[in-house]
Amino acid sequence: MDKFIVEGGHRLNGRITVSGAKNASLALMPTCLLAPGVFHLDNTPNNRDVWTFSRLLGSLGVHAELNGHTLLLDSTNINSFEAPYEHVKKMRASIYVLGPLVARFGQARVSLPGGCNFGPRPVDLHLKGLEKLGAQISIDGGYINASCPRLQGAPFHFDISSVGASVNVMMAAVLAKGHTTLTNVAIEPEVTALARMLVSMGANIEGIGTTTLEIDGVDELRPVRHDTIPDRIEAATFLIAAAMTRGDVTLDHVNPYHLTAVIQKLEESGAELDVAGDTIRITMNDAPNAVDITTAPYPGYPTDSQAQWAAYMLLAKGASRVRDTIYPTRFGYVPELQRLGADIETGDMYCVVKGGAHLSGATVMSSDLRASASLVLAGMVAEGSTEILRVYHLDRGYESLEHKLNAVGARIRRERTEEF
Ligand code: UD1
Repeated sequence: MDKFIVEGGHRLNGRITVSGAKNASLALMPTCLLAPGVFHLDNTPNNRDVWTFSRLLGSLGVHAELNGHTLLLDSTNINSFEAPYEHVKKMRASIYVLGPLVARFGQARVSLPGGCNFGPRPVDLHLKGLEKLGAQISIDGGYINASCPRLQGAPFHFDISSVGASVNVMMAAVLAKGHTTLTNVAIEPEVTALARMLVSMGANIEGIGTTTLEIDGVDELRPVRHDTIPDRIEAATFLIAAAMTRGDVTLDHVNPYHLTAVIQKLEESGAELDVAGDTIRITMNDAPNAVDITTAPYPGYPTDSQAQWAAYMLLAKGASRVRDTIYPTRFGYVPELQRLGADIETGDMYCVVKGGAHLSGATVMSSDLRASASLVLAGMVAEGSTEILRVYHLDRGYESLEHKLNAVGARIRRERTEEF
């Protein structure tokens, strides 16, 4: 296992290129199950989740090859319809193969994802949506079995806004016979990116970017070459890192529009942001103002940048409240930040961060992907060295985080440990 040693006290200054969005890649990759042939996904980030999904697709018979940042997926010879536990346990997005497999091959067997480090994450909406399109669903031995000779279009309303369920049901509906109306669809940019790719493959989808999608099913789709949108969560992490170190950083290859809520909060905190085309420059010269956030589905403040904001607010002139309405128990990072000297109290769905506490380096443990990012940020402003264990969580969703940050002035070293 790897760990990071972060030396605090270094200001960030320079340019960082933002990678393709991990969560978009995970939504785009399973589209190769909807049509036989060779797909190319450009701007794919080289991170662990992409490797895990490639291996899962490989177990279904897809040939996956990452050349630089272009992912080639050859789905000519699919020969299995089962996503085993060994893959799904590593990554919940593995459930994205369910919709496309049942839509194209009439059958799928996918291990049920369990809970995760920030609480229960049910998949009931994925299953209800597929059932509405005619799939017979049963659960046995920890597996979801879905079957249907040909899905039929139908109206379906998502009770709550869900990225994953929207992705799964949309991929199924494009090959269903007849018309599907989906309402309360998630409008996260990653969902919209998937809809655009499906259209380029020959799908009929109206209302892209809105919460209602009108889909006319087609009999077949074709493979395409497609570009992956920039990672708004990676970008938010860098913006917050720059503000925390009172730095001056420009992000290249970013979509500022996807970051509106984060940019606004950073401005309220006292940072200066200049947006020009696909770049954002952030400068910060002072301790931040205390600013509350509440996470919400897009275009609200993203839950995936919540832990990073809490780290930022450790430096604020006052107390701020960080509330998560999407994952109410996503505060596993709090005890670790407290090991660095943070003054944080947790409550029901929120934590209160009291700014101004003296932070000093310590050994801390990553518990999930974004929690790890918050520990790196806190380590960058703590006095002395912070050792962050289990950075494999971080490697799931960030490509070369330490190299990108070191290139603009951070001091982060990766080392192997014997820890189990
Ligand atoms: C995706 C993202 C994750 C992000 C989350 C919220 C990917 C691979 N992951 O996760 O990084 O934190 O969106 O933006 O893109 N829910 C149900 N039933 C369901 C599905 C979801 O109750 O069947 C609930 C969840 O518990 C949660 C809320 O809906 O409270 C939103 O979850 P959802 O948008 O589905 O998250 P994921 O797709 O798992």
